[in-house]
Amino acid sequence: MKLKKQEFKKRRQELMAMMGSNSIAFLPTAPVANRNRDVDHIYRQDSDFYYITGFSEPEALVVLIPGREQAEYILFCREKDDNKELWHGRRTGLEGACEEFGADDSFPITDIDEIIPGLMENRDQVYYPMGCNAEFDIKLLEWLNQLRGNVRKGGRPPTEFISLDHVLHEMRLIKKSWEIKLMQMAADISVEAHIRAMKAVRPKMKEFQLEAEYLHEFITQGARSTAYPSIVGGGKNACVLHYIDNNESLKSGDLVLVDAGAEYQNYAADITRTFPVNGRFTTNQKLLYQIVLDAQNAAIEAIKPGIHWDDPHNIAVDIITEGLINLKILKGSKKKLIKDGAYKAFFMHKTGHWLGLDVHDVGDYKVEDEWRQLEMGMVLTVEPGLYFSHHSKVANKWKNIGIRIEDDVLVTADGHHVLTQALPKTIEEIEYLMNS
Ligand code: GLY
Ligand code: MN
Ligand code: MN
Repeated sequence: MKLKKQEFKKRRQELMAMMGSNSIAFLPTAPVANRNRDVDHIYRQDSDFYYITGFSEPEALVVLIPGREQAEYILFCREKDDNKELWHGRRTGLEGACEEFGADDSFPITDIDEIIPGLMENRDQVYYPMGCNAEFDIKLLEWLNQLRGNVRKGGRPPTEFISLDHVLHEMRLIKKSWEIKLMQMAADISVEAHIRAMKAVRPKMKEFQLEAEYLHEFITQGARSTAYPSIVGGGKNACVLHYIDNNESLKSGDLVLVDAGAEYQNYAADITRTFPVNGRFTTNQKLLYQIVLDAQNAAIEAIKPGIHWDDPHNIAVDIITEGLINLKILKGSKKKLIKDGAYKAFFMHKTGHWLGLDVHDVGDYKVEDEWRQLEMGMVLTVEPGLYFSHHSKVANKWKNIGIRIEDDVLVTADGHHVLTQALPKTIEEIEYLMNS
């Protein structure tokens, strides 16, 4: 889908409308990260920067000055350079910054030290992402001190420094229709990858070979990056929450847990499915799987505007605790077990997180010490799990089984829409898919 210049303009206008009347905002790009020697990691723009610009190149700086007549939106970026472009590809350049990205004015990034102190002078407030980019923090203080040295000439340095993140992150938390379309694309690609993998998995396959099925589908569909490193864990490895070695053989009779999502135009999908390596769940695997599935379905069902952030989690905890009591894995009264957090030995993470440009997306979870209420346009994951490692204090028959089921859910006006609903998750659906 094509970048929509107008969408980014609306976001900048919304942000500027929330800033003080005599203020200035700065947002630098993410630094380039070295991988080894002269090889860098593939560049990924900072999500805040992308959110208000759509600009994907490194070495740039956004300056917003609401109400400034000559230019409210200034983009400092790399200049065009025939030789560098011959080697590394096209640069937008200064003209492109205005024509393609809607900047009112643009300057070479190499000129920031000459130009920015003048733009900062006589502004009351400076908004910027404090403490996120050490190099930029130092630069800003240098510019500030330069202005302080000018006071005798009548200049006035800014006096108030405000964290830009909070304002911007509250905006990012509520997804608009264009963003939802992109998130649906990321979800659809990821769903197809999981379906492909469920059909392809075989005993004795290496975990990385199964991972390759995902990567193939992602890249073929234009999602060149994953939203986070894929977790492909068979048997005991499914109990290691952040397992990414993905280098062991998958065994018949084991489950494999795959947590893999594509990043599409910088938007993340985050899906987990757990399925049998040989295409059939064992009786014990079914018993545990059904508990997680019931917990996940009930948690999703509760999602609508006005419920609190932790309501789905509490619903999942209730069903998981009850399920563990029924299987005699936990003993005692449900109420007391929940109060004591007995489930945490086997379900040690929360039921979800915000999702968006970042897989663990921005936005507060609490407002004034209360769990936040859900609102239309928020997107969250719902991902309960049960993990029984060989250390777990349970009967041997449950050991080395790890199960998580994770979907991506949009809060709508009167309920919710599961962006990843096309992906099978009941025992019958998964077995049918794997054996057809
Ligand atoms: N894939 C990271 C998570 O589920 O939170
Ligand atoms: Mn997640
Ligand atoms: Mn996940």
